[in-house]
Amino acid sequence: MPGITLGDTVPNLEVETTHKNFKLHDYFADSWTVLFSHPASPIYLLSLLTNGLQGDFTPVCTTELGAMGKYAHEFEQRGVKLLGLSCDDIQSHKDWIPDIEAFTPGSKVTYPIIADPNKEIIPQLNMVDPIENGPSRALHIVGPDCKIKLSFLYPSTTGRNMDEVLRALDSLLMAAKHKNKIATPVNWKPDEPVVISPAVSDEEAKKLFPQGFKTAELPSKKGYLRVADVS
Ligand code: BEZ
Repeated sequence: MPGITLGDTVPNLEVETTHKNFKLHDYFADSWTVLFSHPASPIYLLSLLTNGLQGDFTPVCTTELGAMGKYAHEFEQRGVKLLGLSCDDIQSHKDWIPDIEAFTPGSKVTYPIIADPNKEIIPQLNMVDPIENGPSRALHIVGPDCKIKLSFLYPSTTGRNMDEVLRALDSLLMAAKHKNKIATPVNWKPDEPVVISPAVSDEEAKKLFPQGFKTAELPSKKGYLRVADVS
């Protein structure tokens, strides 16, 4: 995925959205944001009239935007904002929303969706699918400092898993809370023990985790896998 990546600052673009126009940094300010884009599908009839791609009214995306709407309260509880992006215009996005909400009962699309009909924004946000040479099924989790903390890039044929988006977000929030002195192990979920970063000495770990930590006994006896309960 050439372009902005982990640790890079998202460019402060002025965007047109289904809510209002704003500069990205104003939207990101003081909270975490899940910014997600959607691939376009080639539509034969449309290709006779336009550039041959339709981003809205695509089946998998309809399920994904609906799921985002259904999970909105989970993101809100964590103080996290949602921001969608699809390569059609605002009127098309607005016409699409009733389909999205109808397909996923209980979903309300309360988050803004960026319009990018000229596909000028996606390269700047590194949301181009190199295979399709068009918009991608990408997702960046952006920190309050406007930097990318995590990116997913899925092919157009694979819809995302919202539980994994939330799980990854919870991991990022937990690591940030502990100033990246911890990391989360495989399949970690909130309330489960975390791993102490290898950059932290045992002495520092004793201060950081007064409740104690366990060091796994492994054949190498190197003592590098230390686990703490922080819930
Ligand atoms: C979809 O979102 O349904 C989709 C988009 C592009 C290609 C295939 C599926």
